[in-house]
Amino acid sequence: MSDSADRRPGPGTPADKDRGFATRAIHAGHEPDPLTGAVNVPIYASSTFAQDGVGGMRGGYEYARTGNPTRTALEANLASLEGGSFGRAFGSGMAATDTALRALLRPGDHVVIPDDAYGGTFRLIDKVLTQWGITYTPAAVSDVDAIRAAIRPETKVVWIETPTNPLLNVGDIEAIAAVAHESGTRFVVDNTFASPYLQQPLAWGADVVLHSTTKYLGGHSDVVGGALVTDDDELDAAFAFLQNGAGAVPGPFDAFLTLRGTKTLAVRMEQHSRNAEALVDVLTRHPAISTVLYPGLEDHPNHAVAARQMRRFGGMISVRLRDGADAARRFCARTQIFTLAESLGGIESLIEHPAAMTHASTAGSMLEVPDDLVRLSVGIEDVGDLLADVTEALS
Ligand SMILES: Cc1ncc(COP(=O)(O)O)c(C=O)c1O
Repeated sequence: MSDSADRRPGPGTPADKDRGFATRAIHAGHEPDPLTGAVNVPIYASSTFAQDGVGGMRGGYEYARTGNPTRTALEANLASLEGGSFGRAFGSGMAATDTALRALLRPGDHVVIPDDAYGGTFRLIDKVLTQWGITYTPAAVSDVDAIRAAIRPETKVVWIETPTNPLLNVGDIEAIAAVAHESGTRFVVDNTFASPYLQQPLAWGADVVLHSTTKYLGGHSDVVGGALVTDDDELDAAFAFLQNGAGAVPGPFDAFLTLRGTKTLAVRMEQHSRNAEALVDVLTRHPAISTVLYPGLEDHPNHAVAARQMRRFGGMISVRLRDGADAARRFCARTQIFTLAESLGGIESLIEHPAAMTHASTAGSMLEVPDDLVRLSVGIEDVGDLLADVTEALS
């Protein structure tokens, strides 16, 4: 097993760059199988690859932790969708997060994170990386000055999500990229909530885009995965080295499922956004709801930034219940079509209580989320059924 980073091709053919998003989603990263003509990439269920003489690799593959053709197709597809040169796939979003942070940080370094980061990201930094001498400062992604003020001489990474999970705050990617780069700091954007269909952070100046592909990219709640995309070959080499060296890779069936998901990303994101907009319209007028958090609302504090950098506003909505935590829990327990479950971004609608579920690890910290908050991942079911479900559960 080679120590060298996997350097096989990135984002498909040069023509990819001139093609539209939906076309790239379906075609980028693979051609019909040269042997059989199969239009889909086979699931290469092989942990090792025969060599013609020592070191004589046939198709560039030697061992499936280092590289697997199904994974390569997915990586090229993801790179193309984010408009980047290099994509790397991982066994989960957290594996991608861990890889990015370990590639970019050394003991003594400092990272700026969202003050409402995804609970798992916060837990990894707060409970694991601090043991290795990393320090962090939370700052509001919507406040460029707060991010500038949080940067120290030892800051090596500014890390944001936009929109954030679960408060749907929006960071101005272009402005934060400028602030990070002024101080020689790398800038990572977790693009999980938007997906590359709605927003492409590299085009606004990010150095690295991260995904939990478990969510919109996979899109069907049937696979866990993660990805890192960059235009920087040195960063990619560092990610590839850790991908192989630490080994948090997806299996070929996971890569296949994720690649099947990305093919329909464009149509799914349109429908997620359309359904969410209809729900927001009803929720903003509902007496049981005190606040609706959705970047598409004109009175959302970062609506103008969202409108500039996003194609539409996506399928994630958070609401606060006027009658507090008990009302929030009741709402979660009463929906019939919205399934009470963690995760997001699948075709089916999900509902959850972040304070007790996805963000329980933030309890007692600066990142604690309000307990009257409910997060909705709006699926692509018939919108009339979703509206009826939510209205009845709140009645
Ligand atoms: C914004 C965000 N980033 C990263 C992750 C971690 O991804 P995974 O669950 O695939 O490890 C999640 C999971 O919910 C998330 O919501």
